[in-house]
Amino acid sequence: MKNARRWLQQRVFSPIVDFSYIVMSLLFAEGFPRWYERFNAWHYRRQAQHYDQSVIALEGGRYAQALEAGLKALSVQPKRILDVNSGTGFVARKLLTLFPEAHIVATDLSEAMLAQAQQRSPTIEFVRADTAKLPFSDESFDLVTLHNGPPHFREMARVLRPGGQMLIAFTSGARVPQWLLRRWLQIAQRFGTVRVGQAGDGLWVLVTKLSQTIRGA
Ligand SMILES: C[S@@+](CC[C@H](N)C(=O)[O-])C[C@H]1O[C@@H](n2cnc3c(N)ncnc32)[C@H](O)[C@@H]1O
Repeated sequence: MKNARRWLQQRVFSPIVDFSYIVMSLLFAEGFPRWYERFNAWHYRRQAQHYDQSVIALEGGRYAQALEAGLKALSVQPKRILDVNSGTGFVARKLLTLFPEAHIVATDLSEAMLAQAQQRSPTIEFVRADTAKLPFSDESFDLVTLHNGPPHFREMARVLRPGGQMLIAFTSGARVPQWLLRRWLQIAQRFGTVRVGQAGDGLWVLVTKLSQTIRGA
């Protein structure tokens, strides 16, 4: 039974969800609609307590293989880090281990996920925020990370300092159709120089912010 659930999670749910993140990133470039926020709150209220067991544990090592490969490709030594769509704080805790001297802020839309995260990581600052409307000043972070969620390039780039880096990774991103990835990566290129890597089924994208954002991006 557990093997069947694992197979479904890895082969079916995870690729579909990553596909939906890329589509949302393209569709909601102007901001996430109100219904999406309500759906997200409902969905993660039901998932929050079990997320680490029902998704992270079930995925095993493949959950973070792309994220870890992307973290190895970073060239910044960040002092201020923002992890968006932080969920139960999985990435934020990894960042704390890698960069113990850095100030780490983690945001998420779901109060239920934030409550789990704060309980597990009392030393990290968790803030409720929509990734499309981040409550931070321009250019206030050296590194912005997003793992397994719909990216909002413009807002993530706004809070990043010139020369800072944005790391986006998806557990099953390499299974997203190439034509869609190409379209999405064209948008990423408006915000900086882009490096892309694959790790198993996972995909990571590292954007190094240009000193000047292209107008209209
Ligand atoms: C699949 S979980 C991933 C959590 C975490 N990054 C990880 O890798 O374990 C996706 C998270 O994105 C959050 N999320 C979705 N849309 C968001 C938005 N527009 N702004 C902020 N968080 C959002 C959800 O509430 C959820 O906690």
